[in-house]
Amino acid sequence: MRLQTKILSKEELQDKICVIVGTRPGIIMFSPIIRELKKTKYKFFVIHTGQHYSYNMDKKFFEDLNLPEPEYKLENIKNCKFHGEQTAKMLEGIEKILLKEKPKIVLVGGDANCNLAGALAARKLHIKVGHVEAGERSYDWRMPEEHNRRMIDHISEYLFCTNEKSKQNLLKENVLGKIFVTGNPIVDAAYQNREIAKKNSNILKQWNLKEKDYFILTTHREENVDSKENLENIILGMKNVCRKFRKKVIFLAHPRTQKRIEQFGLNELIKFIPNFIMKDAIGYLDFINLLSNAKLVFTDSGGVQQEACIFKVPCVTLRENTEWVETIELGVNILAGTNPDKIVNCAEKMLLFEGKWGEPFGDGKAAERIVYIISKEVISWKVWD
Ligand code: UD1
Ligand code: UDP
Repeated sequence: MRLQTKILSKEELQDKICVIVGTRPGIIMFSPIIRELKKTKYKFFVIHTGQHYSYNMDKKFFEDLNLPEPEYKLENIKNCKFHGEQTAKMLEGIEKILLKEKPKIVLVGGDANCNLAGALAARKLHIKVGHVEAGERSYDWRMPEEHNRRMIDHISEYLFCTNEKSKQNLLKENVLGKIFVTGNPIVDAAYQNREIAKKNSNILKQWNLKEKDYFILTTHREENVDSKENLENIILGMKNVCRKFRKKVIFLAHPRTQKRIEQFGLNELIKFIPNFIMKDAIGYLDFINLLSNAKLVFTDSGGVQQEACIFKVPCVTLRENTEWVETIELGVNILAGTNPDKIVNCAEKMLLFEGKWGEPFGDGKAAERIVYIISKEVISWKVWD
């Protein structure tokens, strides 16, 4: 009987790059990298792990960002209920594709389960791993994202960091891979799309909003929305905010949050808060248009904290900690947690913010740098004309 080999040899690997996406922020983060790869003659392919699947969390982003259909899409991930199960199903699906395609490097970005699955699948087959947005830490061991990003960083050959802070975090942990400070492609995406959003998005008109006269809210973190107490507190905080500042608050509810609101019976509470308007999550162009024209943003999202800083919108973070400590140091973001009174106090402080914004996440050229580094380090042929 012939023994099945479980790893790929160096000679078997081909000059090909694999990009893993699976969630809303992953699609956004990789959009400038995919755009950059398309300018070269590299062979690359995209695996969509299917972690996010609703139209407004997935396909809408491919449309807004003008991205090609992924070459591979995993099925039935949406039925997974647990982290292990979800990660394992994606790992298995990705491994099968990697065995067929044999790329030299797999790129993952951020800290969602799909990225751990991709990195692990590659590592086990002896394919190199590149981690975009490496080195972020919240030091909050409750967060599934903290587990994922730590594991990914320690099994990656190439660590593409947002800034010096992320690099220092990695150095402290003695990671084995090579560290590069490239900036974060979320900045590239924001810069590449802000004018397009201004032109193409009618969301303010559609929702009858005036520039700098409304607030927005996004919340989806497991620690917040899977706890009835925390989710209810956030909503009560918004009730206080609506009452005190007499501004509209547009709540863009992630599907996970919508399901929890239903399950915890919080719909009635939301309905009776004047000026509190709950909507489904929206596409990227509408979102960056809405965000950049908002007076203030409340969020527990990592990406939205960054974008608030990029678009110079003061931010109140509904968490006890953040990876993006640079925004706290700059004073453009404040940690409120979920206490309703603290949320209002923090909003009041941030409305008075008049400091300098800075550009802690990069200059919009992260994708270019990442692709260049890959060309030097991994791919053996010259690819640019
Ligand atoms: C995941 C990431 C989180 C990231 C977020 C981006 C992990 C551990 N978490 O969280 O780091 O910030 O994506 O949004 O990987 N759902 C839908 N439709 C969708 C997606 C989700 O209905 O398209 C619902 C489903 O009920 C699903 C639940 O939301 O079970 C949670 O989705 P999941 O992808 O597991 O986690 P997120 O909260 O989206
Ligand atoms: N976003 C969006 N529509 C929305 C809310 C957010 O397009 O209704 C985008 C936003 O621009 C940001 C990204 O989603 O880039 C953040 O994703 P999310 O909050 O789901 O995840 P995180 O960044 O916390 O991992």
